[in-house]
Amino acid sequence: MNEIVVKKELAPSIKLMVVYTPLIARKFKPGQFVIVRVCEEGERIPLTIADADNDNITIVFQEVGKTTKMLGQLKVGDRILNLLGPLGKPTQIDNYGHVCCIGGGVGVAALYPVAKALKKAGNRVTSIVGARTKALIIFEDEMKRVSDELYITTDDGSKGEKGFVTDVLKRLLEKNLFDRVFAVGPAIMMKVVSEVTKMKNVKTIVSLNPIMIDGTGMCGGCRVIVNGEPKFACVDGPDFEGHLVDFNHLLSRLKMYEKQEKEVMQAA
Ligand code: FAD
Ligand code: FES
Ligand code: MG
Repeated sequence: MNEIVVKKELAPSIKLMVVYTPLIARKFKPGQFVIVRVCEEGERIPLTIADADNDNITIVFQEVGKTTKMLGQLKVGDRILNLLGPLGKPTQIDNYGHVCCIGGGVGVAALYPVAKALKKAGNRVTSIVGARTKALIIFEDEMKRVSDELYITTDDGSKGEKGFVTDVLKRLLEKNLFDRVFAVGPAIMMKVVSEVTKMKNVKTIVSLNPIMIDGTGMCGGCRVIVNGEPKFACVDGPDFEGHLVDFNHLLSRLKMYEKQEKEVMQAA
């Protein structure tokens, strides 16, 4: 159980792993995640399930700190110590009409199963994926397969259009194309996407990424404010209506342990 059967480097510091875990794989629905623990003394981190078959799940992660770096050092044949899931409410999939799926950075892998399910449900799917630079664009072929149109942006213009996903979104919204927007990526990207769609009153679902610990609604670590009320992203989400989310609260809580995170990296 939890054996790594495939490992690939998708981009500098972004790794994909296919992990043998039939019980999680068979229950998984798009939008759900697992909580991972790499070693006995290690912390617990959430990672979205990017795909699943009967026996295996795919996770895609960016090595940003101690735990993701430790995970990235595991090899094919190694076992991940603990995997808990599938957790969180699945994304609500329906035939909405014309949907826009927006992914930023490593969030594109998390967006993929949602876009795939939306396509299968009969939606017209327009996707916009973005990253800082060409090398960090991941899941391009996968997103192409499940999208009717795919737009790519990079901050530096090295691939696709130069600029942000929200530049393309603004342009497309001028034509009033979308019945619903789905966004997964850095909190700041989801904030701006929500601001842009709010002006056109297009319902927008974002997948929030606060710091999570237990992933089961008990520790309160993942508290977010939605429509003025506290919610626990691990059990009430991670999907929420973007227009109702207090993104500034989320952005400040994401930095809560920055000092300690830097210290453990320096000590490593
Ligand atoms: P650290 O140096 O400890 O932290 C770097 C930054 O990551 C922190 O500043 C903080 O903003 C965030 N972070 C730290 N600890 C946690 C934690 N326990 N929970 C959440 N965020 C944390 N990342 C991916 O690369 N791929 C994914 O598919 C993915 N899916 C996610 C799904 C959900 C529901 C959530 C909430 C987050 C997801 N993340 C994903 C983010 C991922 O959990 C963090 O990048 C990871 O925990 C960083 O751990 P670290 O020790 O390597 O880095
Ligand atoms: Fe503990 Fe959500 S992670 S309540
Ligand atoms: Mg950490």
